[in-house]
Amino acid sequence: MGRDSEIRVHSRPFVVLDFARLRLPVKTLLAIESSCDETAVSIVRGEDGAPTEILASEISSQIELHRVHGGVVPELASRNHSLRLRPLVEQALDHAKLKVADIDAFAATTGPGLASSLLIGSTAAKALACATGKPFLAINHLEGHLLSPFVAETRVPPHLALIVSGGHTLLLEVKGPGQYRKLGGTRDDAAGEAYDKVGKMLGLPYPGGPEIEKIAHEGDPSTFDFPRSMLHDPHHDFSFSGLKTAVLYTLQGLGEPLEVIQDRRTVANLSASFQQAVIEILVGKTIKAARRHGLKLIALSGGVSLNRTLREAFEAACRKHGFRLAVAPPAMCTDNAAMIAFAALLRHLGGESSPLDADIDPNLRLA
Ligand code: KG4
Ligand code: ZN
Repeated sequence: MGRDSEIRVHSRPFVVLDFARLRLPVKTLLAIESSCDETAVSIVRGEDGAPTEILASEISSQIELHRVHGGVVPELASRNHSLRLRPLVEQALDHAKLKVADIDAFAATTGPGLASSLLIGSTAAKALACATGKPFLAINHLEGHLLSPFVAETRVPPHLALIVSGGHTLLLEVKGPGQYRKLGGTRDDAAGEAYDKVGKMLGLPYPGGPEIEKIAHEGDPSTFDFPRSMLHDPHHDFSFSGLKTAVLYTLQGLGEPLEVIQDRRTVANLSASFQQAVIEILVGKTIKAARRHGLKLIALSGGVSLNRTLREAFEAACRKHGFRLAVAPPAMCTDNAAMIAFAALLRHLGGESSPLDADIDPNLRLA
């Protein structure tokens, strides 16, 4: 990555802010992320005129718990957020060598996500804010993903953002922090959701995304000609459910009950062909949108952007068509609290805070 000077892929774990452009001095923030199946706490500190550090970024993943069910069980998720959150806050403070009293503001994801999970994290952050008399900031999970490619930047430049996660596939025009315009989104399944559902069909463990990527390396992506839905349509929307169904019909056509497809080579070829279709759709539609809206920089974020084959396809396409590329550091692609803390820091330094009765919104939109 980053072999070509036109392509910028950021992977440094530090946040650098342009303090000359911001209004408030040094701040230390603690943020909680609990919108789905990761309980996460992060502490970041912005120092005047110097790089802002991520002092702690703790994640307690529930993937193993949900794996036996083949997907996230909301009741299990919220129960475990409430069990894991307090020790995780203490662990974050410990790593940061700070006390609760040292924190200047508390933030939490308030949407979108699972209602009962969002409530656990946001209530905890509000309680901390209330007990210490410090401000609370309600943060949109999608804004966390959206800003994550810029943690090593001094600013958030105008760009085209593609957020590809388990719950969302969104194309947005970004003019700067807080200035977002939706250009397109999925009309059915999100890209990560399609990975997870196809992974399940192929008998791979949950979540399917990383598993499909792994086994696809052994396969031939030209084996099956799956549809590239909406690739050539004039709008910027996506659709992945037809692709998912095409994989199902192909599996049925192979004449074996799904559970007994033991042939690793077939699973690898199906995975590689499915992944190739997803990548062609994502890259093709993103490049077209960037061209149409005259944006020179493309930023990738969300769990699916961890996929190396996808990143390499974007690097090649951006090089070919003359776009710059910013990708979230790997640790910030899947759900984490550092991206929420970073979004909160930008907002807090800009003078914002949220009321303590700010509600959660499972369907919160970004634009
Ligand atoms: O951003 P994220 O952690 O959660 C949401 O906000 O949805 O994304 C999780 C999604 C899952 O669907 C997972 O299968 C997918 O990201 N994912 C991947 C890879 N790693 C995670 N998809 C494709 N390739 C990967 N390497
Ligand atoms: Zn997410």
